[in-house]
Amino acid sequence: MPNRYWLVILLTALSLQAHAKESAADNYKAYCVQCHGLQGNGNGVNIRDMSVVPRDHTDAKSMSGRSDETIFKAIKEGGPAIDKSILMPPWGGTLSDEEITDLVQHLRMLCKCKFGS
Ligand code: HEC
Repeated sequence: MPNRYWLVILLTALSLQAHAKESAADNYKAYCVQCHGLQGNGNGVNIRDMSVVPRDHTDAKSMSGRSDETIFKAIKEGGPAIDKSILMPPWGGTLSDEEITDLVQHLRMLCKCKFGS
């Protein structure tokens, strides 16, 4: 097989890999920790310049007050979609619905809570 075919195969494989679904933990590390903190406790490096502090995702009391749908909406459409600060960016252009659903589950792990409990 000529060399260039191998190159095409290699590039295809690489680009497939690049589009593979990332795990929620990886996405959280890539997109959320700068504000919400490495432990998800709202203590990210950005916060000293922020007028509204990011939600502490480990706070079961406040996180259990939100349904999964509301959390999904906040992540996908940003803070204003649930009457929260514009400082919480919308992620619908970056993450797929599936990835956002996984992130909601990830947040449920961080708060060790469910809606209503
Ligand atoms: C630029 C900083 C910033 C980044 C990055 C960010 N957030 Fe936020 N987030 C905020 C702020 C600020 C709030 C609080 C808004 C408020 O209380 O008005 C918030 C609130 C939220 C809420 C709403 C919680 C609630 O019930 O009030 C969720 C859910 C959330 N963020 C998830 C995420 C996820 C998941 C990511 C990563 C994909 C992320 N955020 C990335 C700043 C950020």
